[in-house]
Amino acid sequence: MWSIIILIIFCVIAYFITDELIPKLKHLFINAGLYGIDLCKVSQEKIPEALGVVSGCIFLVTIFLFIPIAFGNDLMDRGSFPHNEFAELLAALLSICCMLLLGFADDVLNLKWRYKLLLPTVASLPLLVVYYVNFNSTTFVVPLPLRQFFGVSVNIGFLYYIYMGMLAVFCTNAINILAGINGLEVGQSLVIALSIIVFNLFELKGDQFKAHYFSLHIMIPYLSTTLALFKHNWFPSRVFVGDTFCYVSGMTFAVVGILSHFSKTVLLFFLPQIINFLYSVPQLFHIIPCPRHRLPKYSAETNLLQASRTVIAKKDQKYLSKKIVEVLSFFRLLDKFEDDTSIVMNNMTLINLFLIKFGPMSEVRLTVMLLIFQVLCTCVAFIIRYPLASYFYDV
Ligand code: UD1
Ligand code: MG
Repeated sequence: MWSIIILIIFCVIAYFITDELIPKLKHLFINAGLYGIDLCKVSQEKIPEALGVVSGCIFLVTIFLFIPIAFGNDLMDRGSFPHNEFAELLAALLSICCMLLLGFADDVLNLKWRYKLLLPTVASLPLLVVYYVNFNSTTFVVPLPLRQFFGVSVNIGFLYYIYMGMLAVFCTNAINILAGINGLEVGQSLVIALSIIVFNLFELKGDQFKAHYFSLHIMIPYLSTTLALFKHNWFPSRVFVGDTFCYVSGMTFAVVGILSHFSKTVLLFFLPQIINFLYSVPQLFHIIPCPRHRLPKYSAETNLLQASRTVIAKKDQKYLSKKIVEVLSFFRLLDKFEDDTSIVMNNMTLINLFLIKFGPMSEVRLTVMLLIFQVLCTCVAFIIRYPLASYFYDV
């Protein structure tokens, strides 16, 4: 318990250091050509990009400094040193560190989408190796209604490792594609981080308390450094967080989910990102044209955002694309108009869907609404995880 209190003190210091460093380092990023233009503003001011590297580095350094305290007692008695737990922490840090490096490379080099999928898979390898050595548990507990068909548990063997690798790919990219308005990437990550921390605190009384302590040791420093970044990224953004931040965040959530054995619960906290991903699939796989930016369109006259649009040329439209447009229009999930030659429809993101359903609105209002939705989804996740779980599992 005392180690958590020291960790919190470390994290308060980390918050202030991050908060101080971000404005001080901003001009270095602009000088290095790492900047973007805020596409939802009139001003063409250069906004430094990839500042997630600052919060990410301080997040990692905080954990590095905390290692002697977390393992303090055990360091005295080398005979009983918990090598397994130490290896877990080091593998977690290595995976997050890899993602920080690869995310920064992406911000500098603007990598293609295929690499964005490959990089998190590579970065999750240290984690999977430690999982194999320490646990190698590849069994899923079958929900009660399905037990008559599959038995109490199913061992899916190697597929479990593929699942964990894909979890890392999903978590990193899912945050990155629910982005484009001030404060949204960081805001959603903060809500997910807080949800995980609350879940860990609930579970500290259970028999898996060690795993949840482990998770807290990673999530609390993440939360504090991300809060400082949030302050600078909130509307009107003075810094952009870059893909570095999205990748570090996604990998941090995947790491705690995998090593603390609550990956399904982590996925429940990703409900808005799952909805956004599923809705985006036709554009991500280029069944429907996908422009470089799908973020909402800013109207300078009204100072409001409206859904951005993509154009399908009717002569090039394939059968699958026609069916998708038909089905989504039937469920009123698309806003489209067409003429003889083309169909103009909204870009398929959750952000644009909110604008279609609730009408044009200011950027702050849109971010706040999406973050409220994220919080509501967390509430749903807790209902599924606690009261409803007893219908599906022996809890
Ligand atoms: C992802 C999205 C893209 C979206 C972009 C916005 C997919 C497949 N890709 O691309 O549709 O437009 O994120 O981040 O869904 N920006 C703002 N305001 C913000 C944040 C970002 O205007 O609050 C703009 C800036 O010009 C900034 C740029 O977005 O430079 C960053 O885009 P980047 O993160 O490189 O885009 P992707 O992650 O590739
Ligand atoms: Mg991005």
